[in-house]
Amino acid sequence: MTIIQPRKRLSSGESTLDKMMGGGFIEGSATLISGAPGVGKTTLGIQFLVDGAANGEAGILVTFEEFPASLLRDAKNLGWDLQKLQEEGLLKIIFTSPQVFLSSLQAPDSPLADAIRLMAPTRVVIDSATHFKRMNPDPVKLRDIYNTVVNALKRENITTLILDEDANIAKPGDGRMPPLPFVVDSVFLMRYVELDSEMRRALTILKMRGSRHNKDIRAYSIGQGGLKLGEPFEDIQGILSGFTHRVR
Ligand SMILES: Nc1ncnc2c1ncn2[C@@H]1O[C@H](COP(=O)(O)OP(=O)(O)OP(=O)(O)O)[C@@H](O)[C@H]1O
Ligand SMILES: [Mg+2]
Repeated sequence: MTIIQPRKRLSSGESTLDKMMGGGFIEGSATLISGAPGVGKTTLGIQFLVDGAANGEAGILVTFEEFPASLLRDAKNLGWDLQKLQEEGLLKIIFTSPQVFLSSLQAPDSPLADAIRLMAPTRVVIDSATHFKRMNPDPVKLRDIYNTVVNALKRENITTLILDEDANIAKPGDGRMPPLPFVVDSVFLMRYVELDSEMRRALTILKMRGSRHNKDIRAYSIGQGGLKLGEPFEDIQGILSGFTHRVR
């Protein structure tokens, strides 16, 4: 009889989110974190890497958009000393272009590929997929690009978060569905919610291959230590479509 071992789970650094996932991210999986500008995608990505570092797991943040100096400063305000983690060899921030990153993954002897191999990270965050779209807007070619990235990291059994600025993922499609949600194993959606004249933030898990997951839409706040999930939104409709209203 073959016994299928449950796959290892990696904590997100947020205990309620881990519970929603049924224990954490599945090792070697790729998760798309989709959300509007400023909603907290980079913060969640760093939280995931900092959690790994706290357990001695090395992580890499590949950023196409933020200068490391501003990343370090913003992280410090949330209580994370990324400079120290870099010095300890538990974190590497790679500031590059999507072109260079992609060709490095395809050329195993490139300096970037060497650096990745040397560090042997268990966690990688890519910030953000939006830049691949600028590189090639054709959905078929884009799907190839995403497949290259996701498969290269999966081969190394790396657990990856891909951040993406696409707030329309859960809206009714116009027949031209973006390819990234199909390429990844899991999709998380982060949204602004306007409720009682107040802007709140919400997170939900849209899909998670190979795992049961909770389908709540949960409020969260950002502060010291990163994201903190709260209660599920109840008696509210339209959060995913962007037209929030109370039903009671
Ligand atoms: N020290 C802090 N305390 C409280 N909230 C903070 C703090 N630092 C950042 N934030 C909140 O987090 C938000 C930015 O988060 P983050 O940079 O992770 O978002 P993002 O989704 O990656 O944005 P972008 O799309 O611009 O890359 C800010 O808009 C702010 O509201
Ligand atoms: Mg960001």
